[in-house]
Amino acid sequence: MKTRIINAPDMVKAMNRQKEETKFDVLRPLHFKELEPVIKNKHFFIKTYGCQANVRDEETMRGMLENIGCTSVNDPKDADIIIINTCAVRENAEDKVYGEIGNLKYLRKKNKNLILAICGCMVEEPEILNRVLDTYREVNLFFGTHEIPMLYDLLYEVITTKDRIVAIESKQGEVVEELPASRLNNYKAYVNIIYGCNKFCTYCIVPYTRGKERSRKFDEVLKECKQLVDAGYQEITLLGQNVNAYGKDLDEGKDFADLMEAVAKLGIPRLRFTTSHPWDFSSKMIDVIAKYPNIMKFIHLPVQSGNDEVLRKMGRRYNREQYLALVKEMREKIPGLSLSTDIIVGFPNETREEFEDTLSLVDIVKYEAAFTFIYSPRKGTPAAKMDDNVPYEEKSRRFQELVKHLEVHIEEHSKSMVGKVYDVLVDGESKNNKEMMSGYTEENKLVHFPSKSSLIGKIVKVRITESHTYSLIGELVDE
Ligand code: SAH
Ligand code: SF4
Ligand code: F3S
Repeated sequence: MKTRIINAPDMVKAMNRQKEETKFDVLRPLHFKELEPVIKNKHFFIKTYGCQANVRDEETMRGMLENIGCTSVNDPKDADIIIINTCAVRENAEDKVYGEIGNLKYLRKKNKNLILAICGCMVEEPEILNRVLDTYREVNLFFGTHEIPMLYDLLYEVITTKDRIVAIESKQGEVVEELPASRLNNYKAYVNIIYGCNKFCTYCIVPYTRGKERSRKFDEVLKECKQLVDAGYQEITLLGQNVNAYGKDLDEGKDFADLMEAVAKLGIPRLRFTTSHPWDFSSKMIDVIAKYPNIMKFIHLPVQSGNDEVLRKMGRRYNREQYLALVKEMREKIPGLSLSTDIIVGFPNETREEFEDTLSLVDIVKYEAAFTFIYSPRKGTPAAKMDDNVPYEEKSRRFQELVKHLEVHIEEHSKSMVGKVYDVLVDGESKNNKEMMSGYTEENKLVHFPSKSSLIGKIVKVRITESHTYSLIGELVDE
């Protein structure tokens, strides 16, 4: 099998942020007519890792495949096309993918016509791509985050030439509209508002894998949201690596606060957004969140570290004092606000004192939820070249210590909810107890309660009867 490289990733090109205007485009497959009869009635299986951006990409790929007569299957053994949609944010995300390819590659030995594809953020990294190309000869299609709109043409190439195709162009990226979507949930939806990232935090691979910050046009976002409202969706999450950078690259005179307000006015019962960077979170945004009851009083505000020197080395563009001032303004203006965060422990050369600043910040902010990570060096990023004198065991100890600090506040918040009644959007059976249903409160707390499956997708009132650190138990309240 010949390997044909249409485009290969390049970290220097991936860093390019020239002031070219974003290109707006619509889906333009070259070989749609020829592909349709070849691919009709085929079965596909997509496995997605990583963040909501990848989940939304899966929905686009599903939409494209279903539009051409393919059907999704739950077991990869039944599939003619397998797509592994990957994440490169930390090493453990990558390890899961290697395990998955290892599990699936034998299927190609059984079925020579199987298309085994890898896409997403991992293959955007040249060293990883080369490793997969060499190690897993069974994988016969590689495409990047920018190539999803070319999916039809890539499948056509693989099927007609039987070559192994690599199409991963490192570029700033465009905005492609009118892509189909087959959504994975029929009452909660993700809507992209801005792609890419220009922040280049020194530890992070995302700006290299996803291209430059480019906003979708205001009316395009509203059109998609309006369709979701009309279809009866209960919750919309506006998505971007940096939602509050929305609009800065357009000349529409609209910012994220304007967009949030316009979507809230469409009447969606629950409006969320993720992720917002503390650096460009404006007072205007806080005022809009406070004003509209259907904008959830939940903000994910990654801090990463509580120490100024570490924040500077991370390239985060804010200091501890500015972050705390932002939190103060949010807590004052938005009653009942729930705050969550991301924290990285063990950034290169982080001292004990610097780490303690993170602990003290956690004790001031008293987060209602948090995601914690041990720093994972990413090839090609500036932090990966920094000296690091902190042994892994020490990072691991700090990680445990941080989790304990966070849990004190999370537990306290959960306990304070007992006895009160909350609106819960019902998701489905609880993972560990089939007798119970589960769902999320407006402040994004997970609640389990005895109920019927007929309530899935509905917002119900639940009284909290018992609290655990990461979940709550409740009972339905008759209205
Ligand atoms: N755009 C989002 C974050 C996307 S990545 C934001 O800026 O908030 C999600 C989280 O992964 C980050 O907030 C960070 O805490 C963590 N992360 C990113 N790169 C990492 C690395 N190299 N090692 C450990 N954690 C990392
Ligand atoms: Fe990564 Fe920083 Fe961009 Fe978030 S803002 S995606 S952490 S570079
Ligand atoms: Fe992972 Fe790419 Fe998202 S690296 S976190 S899937 S943007």
